Amino acid sequence: YPDLEENDEDEHVEVQVHEMVPSFLTGEKIPTKAIALERVPEGEMAKAAAQAGKMAKERQENRPKEQSEWRKVLNRPLGKIDKSPMAQQRRRLPVYHQREALVEAIKNNPVVVIVGETGSGKTTQITQYLYEEGFAETGMIGCTQPRRVAAKSIAQRVADEVGTELGKLVGYSIRFENITSPDTKIKYMTDGMLQHEALADQNISAYSVLMLDEAHERTLSTDVLLPLVKAASKRRPDLRVIVTSATLDAAKFSEYFGNAPVLEIPGRTFPVEIVWPSKLESDYLAASLMQIMQIHMSEDEGDILVFLTGQEEIETACERLYERVKALGPAMAHTLEIMPVYSALPSEMQSRIFEVLPAGVRKCILATNIAETSLTIDGIRYVVDPGFVKLSVWDPQLGMNSLKIVPISRAQANQRAGRAGRTAPGKCYRLYTEQIFENEMSSSTVPEIQRQNLAHAALMLKAMGITDLLSFDFLDPPSRPALLGALVELYQLGAIDSEGLLTRVGRKMADFPMDPAMAKVLIRSADAGCAQEMLTIIAVLSMPSLFYRPSDSKQRDAADRARRRLSDGTGDHMTLLNIYNTWAKSGYSKQWCADNFIHERTLRRAKDVRHQLAGILQRYQHRLDACGGDAQLILQVLASGYFRNAAKISGTVYHTLIDNTEVAIHPASALFGKRTEYVLYHTLVFTSREYMHNVSAIQPSWLLNAAPAFFEKMDTNTKRRRTETIKPLFNRYSEHDDDWRISAQKKYVKYE
Ligand code: CDP
Ligand code: MG
Repeated sequence: YPDLEENDEDEHVEVQVHEMVPSFLTGEKIPTKAIALERVPEGEMAKAAAQAGKMAKERQENRPKEQSEWRKVLNRPLGKIDKSPMAQQRRRLPVYHQREALVEAIKNNPVVVIVGETGSGKTTQITQYLYEEGFAETGMIGCTQPRRVAAKSIAQRVADEVGTELGKLVGYSIRFENITSPDTKIKYMTDGMLQHEALADQNISAYSVLMLDEAHERTLSTDVLLPLVKAASKRRPDLRVIVTSATLDAAKFSEYFGNAPVLEIPGRTFPVEIVWPSKLESDYLAASLMQIMQIHMSEDEGDILVFLTGQEEIETACERLYERVKALGPAMAHTLEIMPVYSALPSEMQSRIFEVLPAGVRKCILATNIAETSLTIDGIRYVVDPGFVKLSVWDPQLGMNSLKIVPISRAQANQRAGRAGRTAPGKCYRLYTEQIFENEMSSSTVPEIQRQNLAHAALMLKAMGITDLLSFDFLDPPSRPALLGALVELYQLGAIDSEGLLTRVGRKMADFPMDPAMAKVLIRSADAGCAQEMLTIIAVLSMPSLFYRPSDSKQRDAADRARRRLSDGTGDHMTLLNIYNTWAKSGYSKQWCADNFIHERTLRRAKDVRHQLAGILQRYQHRLDACGGDAQLILQVLASGYFRNAAKISGTVYHTLIDNTEVAIHPASALFGKRTEYVLYHTLVFTSREYMHNVSAIQPSWLLNAAPAFFEKMDTNTKRRRTETIKPLFNRYSEHDDDWRISAQKKYVKYE
């Protein structure tokens, strides 16, 4: 970075936005405003979802530290899992009767779409049939799963069926866990892992068969894999591709793969009676528990499956349910076995759902949507469906994808109900009304690619060598404006060049599971030697406010004084760093926080996030140096990612550079009341007026350096006018091509 302090012209530089469109997008209509990615459904269910999110947060914060009694019970040794009649069981699966037809179709067609009820044996059997038929002689039989847990547990099951140890003939590969060997012929993996393999080898040549399982789940990775596999299949006539999907989407997949044949495995299902309530309960967790108790007390034998949204919620529900059953008295206390299932649950615990229980004991499984299709549990006759799921959606404030509770789709609701009719007629208790089902739920889930941040997705595809995203063969293309916006953003961030090709820093940014702007700031900070500081600043920025202001006026004055003491002259970014560091020096003291009117819990959470971010940087061999709190350097690095958030003073107010909106520095800012020509803010929040939160003073020339494709210098007849009035910056950008983008060797990049 040029040392701008020593550049005497600086105070006279004026910049303005001159948004440049990369040449590969010439002629395109680029959207000017950010695209709203999240489609917020409206209605009662949406309100209940928001409420549930709030309650979950509260519970999380007030969780008792000691182990609950239910936990201790859960930790008892695992009972018997029925493995003996496995061969028989395999022959009873619906897929068994289709074996020959399946093998024949796969032999004769490069791509086959297979549909069948959950539990019919697609995932566990087809791979084995193909292995037995010799398909693994020229390569592995690979099978992708949207979820880590499913990949692991299915691999275990198949290894058991084959009668080998896991990791030999049958293996699995999920992030940070590769249980395979040179002998592995049947390999289960997450779709993300195969995507990673495709990054290195576009022909995916290690495999003779690829089964894209649960393709209807439409994870971002699956949506990215579909075109890659399609292309590989065209190049490799020997490759066999199998796509399994729910009935609803089969035709679509078939058409996508050039009218590939669709094979249906006739199911063996029993009728499921749907039970509707008269109204939506505001607290679905409480309503679920009541429903479970009612089933347990009054219905015939048969296990219960309840769909909740996540680990914390499931654990809370298990604990409460355990207490209620216990309260029924000694005779009843052991009649209900409560079992949680969620992806972070250790696999031994997960095996409990397959445990064989003594007669007269009913299983009650509380699961996330993992039990919708990925895991098959026999013996379920009662399903309780509150109608919610936790989904990853783009959070513009965090600049990251975050998990949010939202209503499920009708397709999901029906899939859930179906779980009750696998072995006998069943009942599904929905906790929402039929009206809500018809009017508020969407017919099917929006694919991830249409609801997540596309800048990141686009960057991943670029990193895979896909240069032309606009005509990329997506199954459901994201909207064109959303994609264009993402590409321009990547260009301005320097992740792709004017021809749309990935740059070196872009390649690095692709490794980070977050907003590219944030990824860039972190990478830059590592190169510039201020990663330690930046990690702290980014972590604290992603939290709600650290400060509290008591209502008592005397106390409030004390709080304001404390805040001023901790303030840094350059603004809020360095102030936040200062606060964190002082807290760290106090030994992460609770008392220090109390004395300074700082939320201790928020700081502790920031510490956690910081740790995670540091882990990512280290994983990709970035150095974690500290620069000793050099504000100039740190703020320049921040500008390299957040240059869009700049504002310039005019009179007593500021105007954003990007769209000239009138904004003001929030009174809580360290810069409040100071007059600084140019500032960088982290967020805009509209209350009584548009306020900038977390604001720091910057030099306009930093913006020029940070984003030459976004800013240009204004011609301002200054005293010592320079010859280099900036002409189309675009040219300069390409002349210096690799120069201004970072590299590990060059910290300082010259412009002249
Ligand atoms: O893929 P699909 O849903 O068609 O079925 P699957 O996952 O292959 O499961 C077939 C059968 O294997 C299930 O009905 C279960 O009885 C059994 N299974 C099991 O007992 N334990 C597992 N971990 C997986 C499957
Ligand atoms: Mg399956």
